Amino acid sequence: MRLCNYHRFILSFLLVLLLGINNAKSEHEEYKTYIVHMDHSLKPSSFLTHETWHRAILRSLAKPVHEKYVLLYSYNHVMHGFSARLTPSQAAEIKKSPAHIAIHEEKSGKLFTTHSPRFMGLTHSSGLWNASSYGEGVIIGMIDSGVWPESESFNEKGMPPVPTRWKGKCQNSTINPFPCNRKLIGAQVFIKGSQAAGESDSPDDTPRDFLGHGTHTSSTAAGNHVPGASQFGYAHGVARGIATAAHVAMYKVSSGGYIVESDVLAAMDQAIADGVDVMSLSLGFYQTPYFQDVIAIASLSAVQKGIAVVCAAGNDGSPNSTHNAAPWITTVGAGTLDRSFTATVTLGNDQTFEGKSKFPNRVLVIDTPLYYGKSDFDKAICRTGALNESEVSGNVVFCDNNNSTNVFAQAEELARNGAVAGILISDSAGELSFPSLILPSSSGALIKKYATEAADDAEVKIMRFVLTSFGTKPAPQVADFSSRGPDPINPNILKPDVIAPGVDVLAAFPPTIPVDQLDGYDLASDYALLSGTSMSAPHVAGVTALLKAVHSEWSPAAIRSALMTTAYTTDNNGTTLTDQTTNLPGTPLDYGAGHINPNKAMDPGLIYDIDWQGYVDFLCGLGYNDTEMKAILRQNQWNCSHEGTDVNYPSFVAMFSASSPNVKNFTRVVTNVGDDQSVYHAVVEITYGMMIRVEPTTLTFTNKYQKQSFVVSVQTYGKAPPVTYGYLKWVDQYGHIVASPVVVLNS
Ligand SMILES: *[C@@H]1O[C@H](CO)[C@@H](O)[C@H](O)[C@H]1NC(C)=O
Ligand SMILES: *[C@@H]1O[C@H](CO)[C@@H](O)[C@H](O)[C@H]1NC(C)=O
Ligand SMILES: *[C@@H]1O[C@H](CO)[C@@H](O)[C@H](O)[C@H]1NC(C)=O
Ligand SMILES: *[C@@H]1O[C@H](CO)[C@@H](O)[C@H](O)[C@H]1NC(C)=O
Ligand SMILES: *[C@@H]1O[C@H](CO)[C@@H](O)[C@H](O)[C@H]1NC(C)=O
Ligand SMILES: *[C@@H]1O[C@H](CO)[C@@H](O)[C@H](O)[C@H]1NC(C)=O
Ligand SMILES: *[C@@H]1O[C@H](CO)[C@@H](O)[C@H](O)[C@H]1NC(C)=O
Ligand SMILES: *[C@@H]1O[C@H](CO)[C@@H](O)[C@H](O)[C@H]1NC(C)=O
Ligand SMILES: *[C@@H]1O[C@H](CO)[C@@H](O)[C@H](O)[C@H]1NC(C)=O
Ligand SMILES: *[C@@H]1O[C@H](CO)[C@@H](O)[C@H](O)[C@H]1NC(C)=O
Repeated sequence: MRLCNYHRFILSFLLVLLLGINNAKSEHEEYKTYIVHMDHSLKPSSFLTHETWHRAILRSLAKPVHEKYVLLYSYNHVMHGFSARLTPSQAAEIKKSPAHIAIHEEKSGKLFTTHSPRFMGLTHSSGLWNASSYGEGVIIGMIDSGVWPESESFNEKGMPPVPTRWKGKCQNSTINPFPCNRKLIGAQVFIKGSQAAGESDSPDDTPRDFLGHGTHTSSTAAGNHVPGASQFGYAHGVARGIATAAHVAMYKVSSGGYIVESDVLAAMDQAIADGVDVMSLSLGFYQTPYFQDVIAIASLSAVQKGIAVVCAAGNDGSPNSTHNAAPWITTVGAGTLDRSFTATVTLGNDQTFEGKSKFPNRVLVIDTPLYYGKSDFDKAICRTGALNESEVSGNVVFCDNNNSTNVFAQAEELARNGAVAGILISDSAGELSFPSLILPSSSGALIKKYATEAADDAEVKIMRFVLTSFGTKPAPQVADFSSRGPDPINPNILKPDVIAPGVDVLAAFPPTIPVDQLDGYDLASDYALLSGTSMSAPHVAGVTALLKAVHSEWSPAAIRSALMTTAYTTDNNGTTLTDQTTNLPGTPLDYGAGHINPNKAMDPGLIYDIDWQGYVDFLCGLGYNDTEMKAILRQNQWNCSHEGTDVNYPSFVAMFSASSPNVKNFTRVVTNVGDDQSVYHAVVEITYGMMIRVEPTTLTFTNKYQKQSFVVSVQTYGKAPPVTYGYLKWVDQYGHIVASPVVVLNS
């Protein structure tokens, strides 16, 4: 039943191969896209713009560059330099230019969604909405796959006028009409890079979303109220984004799912120029040092201009796998919601069972025969190829399990043989594209008994799919797919920073794209449930916009600090946030500072701020050479004021080895953003094998914005486990609790 998708994949794969062969045939050397960092201070004054200079450099190359794609983009804000299609020998030629700083072949990346879409209803509310007027006046720039402008989530009802400072465009044309309005204030396309790589088959110049990803993320961050998102019959109330009064600008970097660095850089360059306040990226590339990581480089420029950058942490699900983890980026992991999808079945004997189901459609099965292949073991467990279509077709089928059966394979066997629905046994919920009710083994025994006794008369009276239940415990959990720390590039910075909802998130979807493709069920919807850190990042981008509306003077680091120090680490069952993979308590390597708590973040008490020099010092401490520093800072001079110190981050990672001292000191500075007269006391929480000392243990503030510094000494001792952690909490007389995780890594 997945065959059609598979064929499509093969076809597009062949297409790519053919294009690649054509390119190779027409030239001796293959053209590739290179990202070239230049020293802009060396531009001869005869060139009025950097772009004319970049073009002249390309024209001067010995062998003429590919006519069609000479210069892809000139960059001004995110970095100094350009991207172009070059052969390796041309790249080598550019390397010899004195104005050249660094050059690398571009890499491709991916969007951070995981599962196939599903749809369901959701509303939630938060007190920060009131204080921030729902993010009024803030502009969120989405770097994504485009947007579906006609979606109700982008209606402009109640929206304030477009801010006069906005300089962005709406890429509308007669061929591809694309309406912008006061909600969706800009939309532009940056896919020259992927087109040049032969990865975009159509000359696509519309910001319209043909994947659904960008429509979903942008409506999550800032979708307007949609009363009546209940057309499917299951939504409760109103579907809406986080910053419902914020404006959205879409920078489309992917038309078919393929993403390249040159396009992402160009999109971020334009977003900075246009005047966005927050940028949200639910995509990423393979992890590389910051001076080669285009998202890190572009984000640092954005942050320097006061633009907060929020990125998805990735869906690798394993330790040491976070993406987009530079300390000037807010890196977001994914958590579950307290909501689950269920299905019920009532048998001919009136016994009713409730189980899990993730089948997206609202299916109702009434008075249908129940098949159980009891006499043949292979049929009983619905082994692949065992069922007989003429026996099973039109029936609800019960499949037994024996500890090595697989519900996915069973569901496929049922679909192939024309079953109406399945009742499967598994103690973990599967996500199946076939109407299946999943029951624990205990209920399975009762159904088996009935099916055996009733024999040919066994039937299902009624079976209902897609019911929602709230208050599922424990929640939130760290989603199994969410990328975990330590960060592969810099394990000294705790990443992800926070987690936010990223499992089965309901948001807008293009109505022309089937939410799920399945023989017999072609599911399209204006709203879809998607999962991934792609979905959690725009939640945090939305909250960042709300915080920006309340505290316009806060830096991106201050906003991130507020999100982190107020995050919670206890689930709705009163225990430490658990890991969905193991159901065991997680650690800050899984959830960072915890799950975001927007209302608390509005009034964090203290913030750990970081200014430009703080990031420069951090980079100095990494031991980057001059070339590498220039590539990331876009300047030829900088001062390393306190080399080797770490950045003023609201979390701590102390790494120890057998040969290192067993104490590590961190100096931090906090700024009072709460009441003028406040006195904070340090409270530490530790676990076996570690010690935290704070000096001084009391911080007294007499004014708002006053700063105080302190030293945290973290010690490891005894037979400490490889990972252990505790917390440093500053607590004042008004109830502010400024919490920082302290992680100890022993190797
Ligand atoms: C909503 O905001 C207004 C003004 O900002 C404030 O006076 C009011 O108390 C707030 N209401 C709630 C319920 O927080
Ligand atoms: C977009 O272009 C179409 C067709 O040219 C036009 O009818 C429409 O008014 C334009 N919309 C905006 C917002 O400019
Ligand atoms: C399938 O079942 C039908 C009806 O019971 C029977 O005639 C047929 O032989 C079966 N096919 C196989 C391959 O067992
Ligand atoms: C379970 O079923 C599989 C596949 O049919 C079979 O290979 C295996 O022996 C069975 N195991 C038990 C414990 O019955
Ligand atoms: C499956 O495994 C559990 C525990 O390992 C055992 O109690 C149970 O009997 C097994 N069931 C089957 C059908 O093999
Ligand atoms: C809730 O916590 C208790 C112990 O605190 C534990 O026994 C129970 O299994 C937990 N419930 C869930 C659903 O995790
Ligand atoms: C983490 O990943 C990086 C690259 O992905 C690798 O070089 C490093 O060895 C890994 N570290 C650990 C502790 O596994
Ligand atoms: C800096 O390191 C890079 C490798 O990352 C190397 O290519 C370059 O030559 C070095 N530059 C200096 C000035 O040492
Ligand atoms: C570095 O510090 C010196 C002395 O404080 C100052 O004159 C200079 O402007 C600084 N340079 C940069 C790039 O910040
Ligand atoms: C670390 O801090 C502690 C307490 O503030 C202090 O006694 C100690 O000298 C410091 N150690 C280093 C190496 O700075």
